[in-house]
Amino acid sequence: MFFHVLTLFPEMIMEGLGTSILGRAMQKGCISAEAVNIRDYTTNKHQKVDDYTYGPGAGMLMQAQPVYDCVQAVLGQIAERREQTLHSENSGAELPEEAKKVRVVYVTPQGSVFDQKMAQEFAKEEDLVLLCGHYEGIDERVLEEVVTDYVSIGDYVLTGGELPAMVMVDAISRLVPGVLNNDESAVTDSFGNGLLEHPQYSRPQVWRDKEVPPVLLSGNHKLIEKWQLEESLKRTKERRPDLYEKWRAENDHC
Ligand code: ADE
Repeated sequence: MFFHVLTLFPEMIMEGLGTSILGRAMQKGCISAEAVNIRDYTTNKHQKVDDYTYGPGAGMLMQAQPVYDCVQAVLGQIAERREQTLHSENSGAELPEEAKKVRVVYVTPQGSVFDQKMAQEFAKEEDLVLLCGHYEGIDERVLEEVVTDYVSIGDYVLTGGELPAMVMVDAISRLVPGVLNNDESAVTDSFGNGLLEHPQYSRPQVWRDKEVPPVLLSGNHKLIEKWQLEESLKRTKERRPDLYEKWRAENDHC
């Protein structure tokens, strides 16, 4: 999967994504991430990309031209790469219209709230373009032209879209086949089944007089699974009653 993060702060993105599991996944070739500097596309001779907003309320807004040209350039490169892949696999074939579509996500507090279900949906894409705003945001006219999805990471306001974009790249990447090792499986995670994950324990068996729950040492897989579900339910009910009620409504035969 290819992530294209359009930003005024490309170093922030590459530093944030280059380490640990995502860094390893990039080296393995399971995912690839590029940070594209929107400033490189401005036609302003002083490299300016922002200006004052019209109307009352002071503030700077990212202007339409550099954002539009940057998005178009990235979409052009994606189309070219897809054409090349197609030709190397099957000479002469035309890229179907559907395969030309690329989702352009504007990360903004004014979007739908990102969750695990959305991450699963985005993980099916071959390319994802993430557009990061700064200052007061981006001129509405260019958003109308290029954006397919408006996504927020939560009901609070950050100084820019870079951290939200990194949050999304992380959550989506770990669902891409090959990114996680078996022992880091995404299937049993919190939200994998709509519940929070059960507690986990490692060595030593006793720490500060606290023992690992004996059922986990029993070797009885059926009993362990039953215990894990009960713990998951208990934890979800306590910490996320909203999720618990939803799970109960969907599983009330249990
Ligand atoms: N930019 C600023 N705050 C944000 C948020 N909560 N989600 C997405 N993008 C943002």
